[in-house]
Amino acid sequence: MVDLLEGIATTRAIRRFRPDPVSDDDLATLLFAATRAPSGSNRQPFRFIVLRDGPRAHEARAVLGRTFRAAWDTKRAADRYDEGAGDSPKARMARAMQSFVDSFEQVPVVILVAALPWRQLSFFEGASVYPACQNLLLAARAVGLGGVLSMWQAMAQDELRAVLGVPDRVVLAATIALGRPAGAHGPVRRRPLSELVYEDGWGEAPAWAADPPGTRFTSAGPGPRASHGRRP
Ligand SMILES: Cc1cc2nc3c(=O)[nH]c(=O)nc-3n(C[C@H](O)[C@H](O)[C@H](O)COP(=O)(O)O)c2cc1C
Repeated sequence: MVDLLEGIATTRAIRRFRPDPVSDDDLATLLFAATRAPSGSNRQPFRFIVLRDGPRAHEARAVLGRTFRAAWDTKRAADRYDEGAGDSPKARMARAMQSFVDSFEQVPVVILVAALPWRQLSFFEGASVYPACQNLLLAARAVGLGGVLSMWQAMAQDELRAVLGVPDRVVLAATIALGRPAGAHGPVRRRPLSELVYEDGWGEAPAWAADPPGTRFTSAGPGPRASHGRRP
């Protein structure tokens, strides 16, 4: 079993999967870990709908596949993914995304993560649901599986609710695709700590905020859209 900190540092988004099925035992392990996550007042407003081979799962996966392909087509153009040079992180991500959406229906397991709104739906609901998603992805890493979180189910909420019998007040907050990675897990790359950590106010990087020796970095991502300006 991987050490916790090593697991955190190597849980990358996995978008290409081997066809092997995911066992019930592994799913139980992952969902146990997911449900250990903290939530506001320990309300545990997360629910997980596992989609494998049942008839409704097939229908929901087809809805998701269609939705994901449309969403990626839009994002690919809007965020200018095709401008990424041949082997740049951006170009690699675009290729992985394309193959992910093209074969979405073959992903071994898809988990829809639902949020039960407490009083009025607000920003806070997500804060009590997404830690569980990350726990799930870390647990997947621990048992040799991998996955990726996406929000594109948001574009098909009503259709998915109808297929899966989800009550109207429940929000489908995330989709997690899971399986055995076709490639290898590897170190996550991020910006240097000195760009991300401040002490005593905005913008002052403390000397102690240093990455471990050998850390490799990236600022990958689509970059700002022309109309959005630069992110802080
Ligand atoms: C809120 C959120 C939304 C995301 N949406 C998508 C998505 O729609 N499609 C996708 O393939 N990956 C999605 N991801 C995965 C990110 O692209 C991924 O975490 C990021 O690029 C870092 O990848 P890495 O950990 O492999 O470096 C999402 C992640 C988060 C946290």
